Amino acid sequence: MKVIAGSASKLLADRLAKALGCPLVKPERKRFPDGETYIRIPEEVKGEHVVVVQSTCSPANDNLIELSLLLSATKDHGAGRVTAVVPYFGYARQDKRFKPGEAISVRTACRIIESAGTDDMFTVDIHEDDIIKNFAIPAYNLSAMPLIGRYLPKLNLRAPVVLGADQGSLVRARRVAAEISAEYDYLEKTRLAPTEVVTKPKRLNVAGKDIVIVDDIISTGGTVVEAAKILKKQKARRVYAACIHPVLVGKALRRILAAGVKKVIATDTIEHKTSVISVAPIIAEAIR
Ligand code: R5P
Repeated sequence: MKVIAGSASKLLADRLAKALGCPLVKPERKRFPDGETYIRIPEEVKGEHVVVVQSTCSPANDNLIELSLLLSATKDHGAGRVTAVVPYFGYARQDKRFKPGEAISVRTACRIIESAGTDDMFTVDIHEDDIIKNFAIPAYNLSAMPLIGRYLPKLNLRAPVVLGADQGSLVRARRVAAEISAEYDYLEKTRLAPTEVVTKPKRLNVAGKDIVIVDDIISTGGTVVEAAKILKKQKARRVYAACIHPVLVGKALRRILAAGVKKVIATDTIEHKTSVISVAPIIAEAIR
């Protein structure tokens, strides 16, 4: 087995190769003068099981094309089995047609990966489980939420409550909370009058407690900022934010910290300074 590192996932590919106890291949990657991408696999892979690791995070289009070139070059070079590991699966939030005429972008992303000669695909906490059903090849969605739960004792939390940022994140909050036997809940919006909306945890009182807001993705930070402000008003003691994929565009991290969040913790599906947890062990275990 060999692991090939895409340029968006160099650290994670290295960690995965170590976890699998196999060599890491660094592909040659250049830009043509007009901006096109050049890829070459510089080592023999004939008959081998080759794992290509590349998140399709920003710049999503470049990273998706690079992934597709890596997969097809690996297959053409004689690999026996080609596994795509796409730790952060870009375009996943455009998974349906919200308005007539829109592209279902994630479906096209799945087709691009599949048609590059890929034998199977692994991703981590994809935005909606059903997305992987777009693949005709075997495709697996792994969850790193328990890894976040196992990290939480490092924060010395007092009376911890794990809170989904919205109802969709309740399942995520439950998985995280299970690791430290903490209480969990989600933030619910209730409309009291046409112009009056109250947002608060569905069941639990947060006063004096340490809160961990959980989401799959933090992008602009808007969801977390809103949640943190509400929790602070309700006298939460300390507020943390945890996510799998730290998309964190522009000044998102600064806005989140300015809203009173003590720390943001995330995984290395996207390489960012908040990526304190590695998903390499769960990917290695699934591929072995
Ligand atoms: C939405 O469905 C996702 O689960 C996240 O809540 C969302 O992507 C977060 O985005 P933002 O950080 O821009 O509020």
